[in-house]
Amino acid sequence: MTGPDDFGRLSAGFLTILLSFTFQGVLCELVVSPVGPTLVNAICGSNVTLAVSFSGAPDPAVTWFMKGFSLPVVTWTINSNTIPDIDENRRKVLRIEPNGSLTFVNVPLEYTSNYTIEMTKSGLGRSSATFTLEVFSSPVNFLPAVGTRVDSEGKIVVAIQCVSEAWPKAVVSWSKGSEALANGTTHQISSDTTQLEILGYNVSKFLLQNYFCNCSNPLGSQRREILLTGPSISNSSLFSNHNGTIVTLTWEVPPTSVVTGFDIQMKGPDLLGKNRTQTSLNGFNTIQHELGTTRRADIFILDPNLTYMFRIIPKALTTEGDPSTVHRIGPGEGLSRSAIAGIAAGIPSGILFLVLLGGFVYFCRQIRYPLSKTVEKVKTSQTETTPPNLLTGGQKSPPDYNRLQQTPSERPVALPIFGTPLPVRIATTV
Ligand SMILES: *[C@@H]1O[C@H](CO)[C@@H](O)[C@H](O)[C@H]1NC(C)=O
Ligand SMILES: *[C@@H]1O[C@H](CO)[C@@H](O)[C@H](O)[C@H]1NC(C)=O
Ligand SMILES: *[C@@H]1O[C@H](CO)[C@@H](O)[C@H](O)[C@H]1NC(C)=O
Ligand SMILES: *[C@@H]1O[C@H](CO)[C@@H](O)[C@H](O)[C@H]1NC(C)=O
Ligand SMILES: *[C@@H]1O[C@H](CO)[C@@H](O)[C@H](O)[C@H]1NC(C)=O
Ligand SMILES: *[C@@H]1O[C@H](CO)[C@@H](O)[C@H](O)[C@H]1NC(C)=O
Ligand SMILES: *[C@@H]1O[C@H](CO)[C@@H](O)[C@H](O)[C@H]1NC(C)=O
Ligand SMILES: *[C@@H]1O[C@H](CO)[C@@H](O)[C@H](O)[C@H]1NC(C)=O
Ligand SMILES: *[C@@H]1O[C@H](CO)[C@@H](O)[C@H](O)[C@H]1NC(C)=O
Ligand SMILES: *[C@@H]1O[C@H](CO)[C@@H](O)[C@H](O)[C@H]1NC(C)=O
Repeated sequence: MTGPDDFGRLSAGFLTILLSFTFQGVLCELVVSPVGPTLVNAICGSNVTLAVSFSGAPDPAVTWFMKGFSLPVVTWTINSNTIPDIDENRRKVLRIEPNGSLTFVNVPLEYTSNYTIEMTKSGLGRSSATFTLEVFSSPVNFLPAVGTRVDSEGKIVVAIQCVSEAWPKAVVSWSKGSEALANGTTHQISSDTTQLEILGYNVSKFLLQNYFCNCSNPLGSQRREILLTGPSISNSSLFSNHNGTIVTLTWEVPPTSVVTGFDIQMKGPDLLGKNRTQTSLNGFNTIQHELGTTRRADIFILDPNLTYMFRIIPKALTTEGDPSTVHRIGPGEGLSRSAIAGIAAGIPSGILFLVLLGGFVYFCRQIRYPLSKTVEKVKTSQTETTPPNLLTGGQKSPPDYNRLQQTPSERPVALPIFGTPLPVRIATTV
């Protein structure tokens, strides 16, 4: 198939040169033409070539465009020593062949497009040809997404979305356990089938049910399980503005948790300018309500000299989930910021001292000093920029552990380092 073409191209090229050098003014046209069909189908991840041949001029300049002429992706001059200029974001996929054909390596789904090759040679005109590349794939790469809202009748609506990358577009079928779900009043399926909405007044209705989505197209299918959980919070944190008058709580919820809102609760003195509403048994009272889509809340105005505690209660209508961890803010045991910096800066010298003394003890008595994991842990989190001369100030008073460690569970780990002077540790081990 390429034989006659090559021959044709060669002879045409030869003729061109001959003509252009011998008979000035004789018409000779550059022509690029597709080799094979212009509608090219490819399976996602395969290698595919849009093959062309040309005649009428030697070594023309080539430009490949995507989406009509709007987006040039490769430019090169055939047989030149220059490196083909390939769009930076497409270098992993696109290659130009010595004959001008365009090859896609492991072609991704999003390369479905029209591709136009344009060849030019000065004095010999220009020519173009257009291909349509269609990339197919079975449904892959998807994670179900869950969202919750409350509708106008006060029902909880849990929406599950299963959108897979696939071509042709996948059709999604839904089931609860082994029971196939049909479009109805309690289960509503979107017209493109990618979303299932489950409606109910009571969150317990949604839970402990195995929902499945099955995305399928002629090339294959993929199924995912969605196990909805009650209102919960996976992670939360608190930080304050520079003078401690405003705090910001942020939180996250597990991806399949059914949540319609949050209560922000506080324990401690009243916020400035606000009156206490109601106090619960454990001392926490709700100060703010947040929507189910909210993931952060600002609380003001705090007195920086007082101590407050905050937590977040996730809710599905009236059903409450477990509270978040409690976040505490305030002056604590009275250590200043500079003192904390001093302690942090003191750690390197402390560790150095420990290591040197440990080595000394090892050599003198052949007793190995165990450099505990605790020391290593703190060592990795120290600040390195603070000058070490604040050390003495730092040891005068115990630190505010809340400012050093966010998670309460880590406090006991940090305690011996700061609370116990280093020489005591060594004395006990020798
Ligand atoms: C596609 O081309 C790349 C690079 O030339 C090669 O490594 C890979 O094996 C090819 N893939 C297939 C499916 O032929
Ligand atoms: C050009 O090169 C590609 C890949 O090497 C090949 O598939 C195609 O057939 C070639 N075209 C011609 C006209 O030789
Ligand atoms: C390719 O071009 C054809 C006709 O010009 C058009 O109908 C089609 O939508 C185009 N396809 C893409 C993927 O741009
Ligand atoms: C399900 O029903 C709603 C209206 O009740 C409709 O808008 C939607 O297109 C239907 N879904 C399917 C997959 O037919
Ligand atoms: C929700 O359902 C559970 C079990 O089905 C039931 O015990 C509870 O009373 C219901 N709550 C409401 C508010 O209807
Ligand atoms: C998903 O749907 C396809 C097409 O309807 C079916 O062939 C396949 O068995 C289903 N997969 C599962 C796990 O149900
Ligand atoms: C929890 O949130 C904090 C602050 O947003 C973040 O630094 C941390 O990585 C999160 N932890 C987990 C387990 O997601
Ligand atoms: C604290 O800082 C805020 C701006 O961040 C400012 O508006 C406020 O007046 C400051 N309060 C005090 C007591 O310094
Ligand atoms: C707080 O309560 C006092 C008296 O009970 C009232 O005068 C004041 O307006 C209240 N302030 C706010 C912010 O509600
Ligand atoms: C906090 O205490 C310091 C010293 O004890 C005092 O100077 C400052 O005014 C107090 N700040 C507030 C907002 O009460």
